[in-house]
This record gives sequence, C-alpha cells and structure tokens, in this order.
Amino acid sequence: MQIFKEIGPLKAFLVEKRKQGNTIGFVATMGALHEGHLKLVRDSRNDNSTTICSIFVNPSQFNNPADLQKYPRTLEKDILMLTETGCDALFCPEVDTMYNQESRLRFDFGQLDKVMEGQFRPGHFSGVALVVSKLFHIVEPDIAYFGQKDWQQFAIIRQLVSELKFNVTLKSVQTLREANGLAMSSRNARLSSADREKAGLISQMLQWAVDKLKGGAAIHDVKKMVTEKLQTEAGFTVEYFEVADSENLTLLNNVTESARPILCIAVFVGDVRLIDNMFL
Ligand code: PAJ
Repeated sequence: MQIFKEIGPLKAFLVEKRKQGNTIGFVATMGALHEGHLKLVRDSRNDNSTTICSIFVNPSQFNNPADLQKYPRTLEKDILMLTETGCDALFCPEVDTMYNQESRLRFDFGQLDKVMEGQFRPGHFSGVALVVSKLFHIVEPDIAYFGQKDWQQFAIIRQLVSELKFNVTLKSVQTLREANGLAMSSRNARLSSADREKAGLISQMLQWAVDKLKGGAAIHDVKKMVTEKLQTEAGFTVEYFEVADSENLTLLNNVTESARPILCIAVFVGDVRLIDNMFL
C-alpha cells in the first residue's frame, strides 16, 4: 500500500491510475479502524480497480475539544489492517495540510442538520461537509463509500454532492455489528469490557422498537419505553431517540407519515457517546 501525507504526490498517483483506466473507490475515515471500516474498503475493492482510504481526525467536526483530544489514534495498526485488506493507497495528512488557512466556510443543510446529531453537536455537519468536500476535490473518486451507521451524515453528504455537483456515486454500506449487536465504532475502544457487553442492549432495544412499531404501537409510547429501559435498567443516558423520515429527516409522530422511516438513537455509556439506527 502506498502512503501519502501530501496532496501533490497523491494526485500524481491518482492521475497515473486513471491513465491506466482504473476506477477510483474512496473510503474516508478518522482511523482507529475496525471491521466496519474494512467492510467499506472490501466493497470498494469489489467495485473498483483502485481503492484509496483516508485517515484524518478532522478538528472542524468536533464541537467538543475534549472529544477531539480523546479520539483514539492507532495509525500503525490501521496501516497493517488496510494493507492486509488490500487497500491500494492511504492518505493521512497532517491538520496543516488540510487546513492551511483559517476556515471561513460554513454549511447549512436546513432540516437535515437541525435534528438529532445536528441538534446535539452544533457545527458538526458543517465540519463534516467541509472536510468531505476537500477530500472529494483531492481524490475525485468514482465511487465513495459511507456507513449506514452514520445515516444522517450520509443524507447530508448526498445533499452536498447533489447541490455542488460532485461527479461521484455514493454508496451506503450496512452497519457491521459485534456478536451482541453493538454497532462497531472506533469509540467502542473506550468502553470497559463490561460496558461493551452491556451496550449490546442499544441495538436490541432498536430491534424491539422496530417490532413494536410494525405491530402498530404508537411512536410516543415506544420512545418512552426504550428510554426508560436504557436509562433505568442499564444506567445509560439517552440523548435522543427519534423516528424520522430517512430521506428528509423530518421527525415523525406516526410511522404512516413516511414511506421509509428510520429509528435513530444517541446514548452515553459512561462518558462514551454511541449512535446507532435501524430502518423500520
Ligand atoms: P469514521 O467515524 O471513522 O467513519 C468512517 C466511515 O466508516 C463512515 O462512513 C462510517 O459510517 C463508517 N462506519 C463506521 N462504523 C461502521 C460500522 N459499524 N459498519 C459500517 N460502516 C461503519 O464518519 C467519519 O469517520 C467522518 O465523519 C468522515 C466521514 C471521515 C469525515 O471526517
């Protein structure tokens, strides 16, 4: 695997690959890689002749400086995992390379960034859109892969690509889970093994809620029961639990208001913030 820290040499590499008729698949990450990330790389390898991954802990999407500081960084191990998975190139720039001037650009996605993650992490999606725009300009991928785990992020990047006319196809990849159902996440590394086991309850409650809603239960009642169970029995703190339209992210009071509803949740397990979602 070729490793690039600078933009120029990476672009030269990509120009050469394109000349040879390769298609470019791209997986953007913040590192601390796990099997979920590698699934995106594997999908890209299936579809494209060249796969590039980026690892960049993007400061502009962290609204909480302590969260940025605590974000796990495991570059050496990540490089081994990507090499074993057959990734062709890694772009791992320093902050100064991506932000070589004070950034004044801000994104506003209307409804898409006012709810759920957008409500509780103000400025987060503006930072995501900024760095993804930069990465798309640098890499110019044919196909870019994103996880369903961050569904709101996917909806926002879809809007970004459509409005700014990026010439890229987006693919959403199903969430990879631990045996107990816990969605794989870089943040899971910060959980104790007992909490990691207990955190399986989050996806179990999502599945339970899906079944209840399919059986005709009211959103209001299901929300109350899920929140109570996670807070009182497990001792977690639920930041939000919403049922939304998966396209425009309008929050629903009734599942019949949407053709394809999605259940989205954010939970604190101790000081570790986890998110998950499930389609109805
Ligand atoms: P990060 O959290 O590292 O995630 C990188 C990609 O991996 C995202 O598309 C995410 O949805 C996907 N992913 C994470 N966990 C997954 C799982 N369990 N199964 C499948 N896919 C999973 O998301 C970001 O980084 C950043 O916001 C980024 C887009 C790189 C911009 O900085």
